[in-house]
Amino acid sequence: MSTPHNSAEKGEFAKTVLMPGDPLRAKFVAETFLEGARLVNNVRGIGGYTGFYKGCPVSVMASGMGMPSMGIYSYELFRFYDVDNIIRIGSAGAIREDVRVRDLVFGIGACTNSAYASQYGLHGTFAPTASYSLLSAAVKAAEEKGVRYHVGNLLSSDTFYSDDADEANEMWRRMGVMAIEMEAAALYMNAARAGKNALAICTVSDHLLTGEATTAEERQTTFTDMMEVALETAVSVSRNPVPDKGDAS
Ligand code: HPA
Repeated sequence: MSTPHNSAEKGEFAKTVLMPGDPLRAKFVAETFLEGARLVNNVRGIGGYTGFYKGCPVSVMASGMGMPSMGIYSYELFRFYDVDNIIRIGSAGAIREDVRVRDLVFGIGACTNSAYASQYGLHGTFAPTASYSLLSAAVKAAEEKGVRYHVGNLLSSDTFYSDDADEANEMWRRMGVMAIEMEAAALYMNAARAGKNALAICTVSDHLLTGEATTAEERQTTFTDMMEVALETAVSVSRNPVPDKGDAS
């Protein structure tokens, strides 16, 4: 079995997949943290690897950038590869004063300026949310690691370069949104529709109010903390699997 975007055979992905945006980060996770990591997909250079972390099977594969790309890869993992849990590990730009560069932000929800939800034909606004089981396991892992983190809303934006950035950021900030990234809402909606579990964890790489940014070295360290939090979350759900909610269709 394969898809237009994934050449892995069914069964080659673990039940839990970590998804950074960047294929080189997926390779880094596989080489640094996974034992016996095996490349299971490399279509378009989107390397997918499966190995073991503390004895638990875990996969890591890039999502690419933006909701359409995350939408494709996460849909196929949930629907065609029987993946149960996807944890996004990415970067985000902070828009709240109390959220600092290098902090981790866990998206309990993901607002969006994208029309992704229109495909479902709902008579109202869908609220894309994280899996509580994944979120609570990630919070526990962050507490144990002693890293600074926040749980709240993210904004998944369709644009990195926005003509109206200052006004738009201010309006989302007034609604308490912590930080802006580009993929979580599509992941959460695909998970909801498939009856599966998702969580987005981001490292704050830059601050959109102050202009502060992380150095390359700082980014590596904080990204490593985030990867460990995500891997511990994967171990926790593999020991206590989240019941499948089932596809509502
Ligand atoms: N916008 C969207 N995604 C991001 C940003 C941003 O400012 N920073 C890091 N990821």
